[in-house]
Order: sequence, then structure tokens, then C-alpha cells
Amino acid sequence: MIVVQTKQELDERLAEWRQHDERIALVPTMGNLHAGHASLVELAREYAEKVVVSIFVNPTQFGEDEDFAEYPRTLEHDTRCLKKSAADLIFAPNIETMYPLGLEDATSILVPRITENFCGASRPGHFNGVTSVVARLFALVQPDMAIFGQKDYQQQLVIRHMSLDLNLPVKIITGETMREDDGLAMSSRNQYLDDDERANAPVLYQVLSGVAEELQRGRQNHEELESKSVKALSDAGFSVEYFSIRRAQNLQIPDRDCDELVVLAAANLGNARLIDNVVVTV
Ligand code: PAJ
Repeated sequence: MIVVQTKQELDERLAEWRQHDERIALVPTMGNLHAGHASLVELAREYAEKVVVSIFVNPTQFGEDEDFAEYPRTLEHDTRCLKKSAADLIFAPNIETMYPLGLEDATSILVPRITENFCGASRPGHFNGVTSVVARLFALVQPDMAIFGQKDYQQQLVIRHMSLDLNLPVKIITGETMREDDGLAMSSRNQYLDDDERANAPVLYQVLSGVAEELQRGRQNHEELESKSVKALSDAGFSVEYFSIRRAQNLQIPDRDCDELVVLAAANLGNARLIDNVVVTV
């Protein structure tokens, strides 16, 4: 597994691949890789001859009171994990490579409206940081396509919005959410859960799936479903940030004839902020 840290090393590799007309897929990550990330790498390989995985814990997407300092940095483990995968290159840039003018003078990309609700409401500036770093990664790697997880549903919509609006020549592909055997969505933040919390954590997916089933059976009263779900999660010890049924396409409130819905939620359990979602065709 080749690990490169500078733009120059990256450019050398990319030039070689492009000479051979090889398509390049990018899987952006913040590292601490798990089987969810690995599944995106395998999906990337279906679209491209070469797969670049970027690993960068991006400071601009963390709020001041968030876990930027604690966020697990495990490059050795990640390199080992990717050795067995379809990845060809790890791009693990330092802060100067990503933000050459420094953080104070960094250009920032703001996608309006779709970033304001849900995770954007509780994490002001978060999506700003995400789009800004993803645009930088696109500019550095110039991939033909980039893969994002459905797990971060709002994030992949925001990136699609940016890419479409700025005519970025990168196809955005969304990969399904990988789960533990008990249904909990895999996440680097699951390690913040203690044993009791970990045993409780799958309730989030159970409640989301229960609502998805009700919607499929034709239940129309979204508000009632949402408030019952918040209560079920609160009773199970979660502190619920949001639980909503929305249009899958753009997170707007669905009208009666909308047939693609997403049920999405964020809830805190102990020190872990868990997010998850289920897409339903009704
Ligand atoms: P990170 O949380 O490391 O996630 C990297 C990618 O893995 C994201 O596209 C995320 O949606 C996906 N992912 C996470 N858990 C998953 C799971 N259980 N199954 C499938 N895919 C999963 O998301 C980020 O990093 C950052 O915001 C980033 C886009 C890299 C920008 O810094």
C-alpha cells in the first residue's frame, strides 16, 4: 500500500495512472477505518481502475466544543486495513497540503438551505467545513468519481448539491450503510460508548426501521410517527437531537404523493453522537 502525504508525491502517481487512461475513484475519509469505509472502497473499484482513499481529520468541520482533539487518528491501523482492500493509494495530507494559505485565510464553500437543518442546525459551520475540504480533495486528486456513505445522508446530499451547482467534473456515488450484526451503523464514534450504552445503541436503528415499515404499510401521519419515535428513544436513554421523515431527494417536508422518503435521526447516547437513517419507497 502506497501512502503519500504531499501534493507532489500525489501528482506523480496520478500522472502515471492518467497516462494509461485509468479512471480514478476517490473515497474521502477521516481515517479510523472500519468495514463501512472498506465497503466504499470495494464499491469504488467497480467504477474505476484506481482507488485513492484520503485520510484527513479536517479541523474546519468540527465545532469548538466538538471532538477534533479526541478524534481517533490511527494511520497504521488504517494502512493495514486497506492492504487487504481494493485501494491503490492512501493520500494522508498534512494541514499545509490541505490548507496552503493557513486556516485563517482558507477559502470556504457554503451550500445554503439544505445545510441549515438537522446536523447543520446542531453543528453550525459543519457542512461548510465538509464542502470546503471535499472541494479541496477534488481539486488535488481530480477523481472521475467520489464515493460517500448513505450513513451521512445529509452530507452526501450537500456534496451532490455542491458538485452539481459548481459543475465539478466528479460523479458522486452513494454507498449503503454497513451495520454491526445487531443493526448499529458502523461509526468511528461508536467507541465512545460504554458497555451498557453499546448494548442499547441498536435501538436507534430498530426505531428507524419500525417507522420505515409503518410508512410502507401506508401510515400517513408523519408527525405522530416522529413524536412516538422520539419518546421511544428518550425512554431508551437517548437524548434525541432530531427524528424526521423527509423527502429523500432534498430533505424537504414531503407532500402526500412523495414516494421516496428518508427517515433520519441524530441522538446522543452518553458521549457518543449517533446518526442513522433509512430510505423508504412507499
Ligand atoms: P468519515 O466519517 O471518516 O466517513 C468517510 C465516509 O465513510 C463518509 O462518506 C461516510 O458516510 C462513510 N461511512 C461512515 N460510516 C459508514 C458505514 N457504516 N457504512 C458505509 N459508509 C460509511 O464523512 C467524513 O468522514 C468526512 O465528513 C469527509 C467526507 C471525509 C470530509 O472530511
